[in-house]
Amino acid sequence: MNRFLSLGALEPGEIRELVALAGRLEARPEPAALAGRVLGLLFFDPSLRTLASMQSAMARLGGSSFVISPGRGSWALETRDGVVMDGAAAEHVREALPVLAGYADVLGVRAFASLSDLEADLADEPMATFARLVDRPLVNLESAIDHPCQALGDWKAMDDLGVPPAGRLVLTWANHPRPLPLAVPAAVAEMGALRGMEVVVVRPEPYAFPPALSARVARAAARGGGSFRESAERDEALAGAAVVYAKSWAASERYGDGAAESERRRALADWCVDEPWFARAPAARLFHCLPVRRNVVVADRVLDGPRSAVVHQAHQRLWAQMAVLHRMLAGRGNG
Ligand code: CP
Repeated sequence: MNRFLSLGALEPGEIRELVALAGRLEARPEPAALAGRVLGLLFFDPSLRTLASMQSAMARLGGSSFVISPGRGSWALETRDGVVMDGAAAEHVREALPVLAGYADVLGVRAFASLSDLEADLADEPMATFARLVDRPLVNLESAIDHPCQALGDWKAMDDLGVPPAGRLVLTWANHPRPLPLAVPAAVAEMGALRGMEVVVVRPEPYAFPPALSARVARAAARGGGSFRESAERDEALAGAAVVYAKSWAASERYGDGAAESERRRALADWCVDEPWFARAPAARLFHCLPVRRNVVVADRVLDGPRSAVVHQAHQRLWAQMAVLHRMLAGRGNG
């Protein structure tokens, strides 16, 4: 495996093999598997879990890592083509990415959505450009429209917690002070569909998935044996859920417009996941990718209660990413 850019690029069987490898590495550590190997991490945007778990994953396999945060301790980088670079960016990714690839055996890159151009974000062009510029293995650490490391860890978390393969995964829109990217909702819905789950996206009408994203999840459902639908009827959608996955995302109309979102959300404060939501799904687990804003996205009593899986989820990122790095590098010569 030379690229880990989207879970949907893998066959469901290949994903199950990665999850199994993650479980094996959790049960039987391989502290020298990647001895002498180097992971380069390029973070255009902030992180807590992804940064820490990638470095920990590489260290636990015997390798080492370096971190570049453009504009915060290293040169600000330009990602657009054909621009006159007379602004803040001192260097272009066309030079920076191949240079960093030469220092590392595998690269991981995080570059969030622009939240200004929906079509461009759906096309995920910056990550595609990075992939063209790098001849080494490359891991997507969250791009404009994908977060495969999150999705792989969540698949493992669901297996660990005994979530049935065909169970109902309710991905619910939740309130938030700011418009947020579609990357996690896209990756999670696709993951559930590939896992064979009944994926229901519940949201107020303005937050319907863009058609291209709905089509992507529907294709995943066809491949994985799951199903996919959207609903604005919260009670109906939540009934019988095995997992309620809370996440906020931006509306497609006036995409990323903070003022428009604030106006729209004034009437949506009750889209904060709380215990009454689980009346018809008493055994459902609460998932969230984190970071989560308490009492805006999810109520304290849910996050602090027994149904919350959010910390377990975050921990699975470690084993899942170890599996990805192991699959990419173990048994391959330095080069
Ligand atoms: N879930 C996730 O990717 O967390 P970070 O943004 O902290 O990396």
